[in-house]
Amino acid sequence: MSIPNHAQEAQDRYFMMLAIQQAKQGLYTTRPNPAVGCVIVRAESVVGQGFHPKAGQPHAEVFALQDAGASAVGGTAYVTLEPCSHTGRTPPCALGLIDAGIKRVVIAGLDPNPQVAGRGVKLLEDAGIEVTVGILTDQAEALNRGFLKAMRTQMPYVRLKIATSLDGRTAMASGESKWITSAQAREDVQKLRALSGAIITGSETIIADDPQLNVRSTQLCVSADQVPTPKVVVLDRRQRLQYDPKSNYQLCRQSEVLYWREDDLVKLLKRLVSDHQCYDVLVEAGAGVAGSFLKQQLVDELIVYQAPCLLGIKARPMVEFSPLSLAQQLRLDICAHEKIGPDLKLTLQPL
Ligand SMILES: NC(=O)c1ccc[n+]([C@@H]2O[C@H](COP(=O)([O-])OP(=O)(O)OC[C@H]3O[C@@H](n4cnc5c(N)ncnc54)[C@H](OP(=O)(O)O)[C@@H]3O)[C@@H](O)[C@H]2O)c1
Ligand SMILES: [Zn+2]
Repeated sequence: MSIPNHAQEAQDRYFMMLAIQQAKQGLYTTRPNPAVGCVIVRAESVVGQGFHPKAGQPHAEVFALQDAGASAVGGTAYVTLEPCSHTGRTPPCALGLIDAGIKRVVIAGLDPNPQVAGRGVKLLEDAGIEVTVGILTDQAEALNRGFLKAMRTQMPYVRLKIATSLDGRTAMASGESKWITSAQAREDVQKLRALSGAIITGSETIIADDPQLNVRSTQLCVSADQVPTPKVVVLDRRQRLQYDPKSNYQLCRQSEVLYWREDDLVKLLKRLVSDHQCYDVLVEAGAGVAGSFLKQQLVDELIVYQAPCLLGIKARPMVEFSPLSLAQQLRLDICAHEKIGPDLKLTLQPL
């Protein structure tokens, strides 16, 4: 592995950015596989590019090498994740790069699985290829939060989404909550769902709202039927809900819904990774469930859609959480803010 000089690094960053743009095309469709992009460069020009579109289909490197054809010989490959070294449904990409005559490989980040990290690099280096690792690593990792966290910790990346009023209210005391935020904000939530392997909700939300919790947007970069359907999980310790083809609740008419009857949310999250390969989990529920996830420090990212309206003190709070002193407060860091239609979208991380 070599450390790049500054001019080389600027060029590497540029081409890696193009590889990340390629990877983004698979963002909603590759689950449970990571979104990966590859760009082949020869004499400072892009001669081939590709991305991994779907589990079971060829990896990004295969498409990029096909695109480049004979121009790949002597070229540099930019890949957003370490090329694979094992024979799965497709032959190892590291060997594909070697066979195509690639001279140098630039990788944003190593394979996160500690048992396999570095093996792709070793195969390439053993074949005499120069390998550079660590270009735009943060941007590339941002594409695959769930996959990377699950490979490293066997826990999924958890996003908690809450729609609130300006005074932090999430529903009227009666349970009425359709709709606090705008159609544009709800359209944006479709992207969060499309990223998620599983969506967790609470029994009270089903009873109050009868939600669909599906991906139905027409405004994603791919059509909604290309997006693998997120697994819906209903938290229901008192067993008030179950599968019933004649149920009044639309989710209860679907046999694939998982009902979680236990109190242990860590066990559920681990189970979603090990049994269902759900690496990105979205919590869309009321204040009760939201409070439980936050209090147990299970939230990686909180996404708040805040509408400029006031619902008053009798309306439901944002999270059921009652610290007794300021010292017990839960503090978060604002990572991003954006106006979506008339509403504000805040992305936060618990400190
Ligand atoms: N603004 C928004 O973003 C938004 C989103 C969704 C819903 N809502 C509104 O929120 C209201 C419902 O809120 P809610 O707080 O009553 O319901 P909720 O959080 O959706 O569900 C609460 C139920 O989940 C079950 N549960 C299972 N495990 C739990 C755990 N570890 N922690 C907490 N609950 C657990 C509990 O029933 P068991 O004891 O039987 O397990 C509990 O009664 C509705 O009016 C809905 O319209 C708003
Ligand atoms: Zn591969």
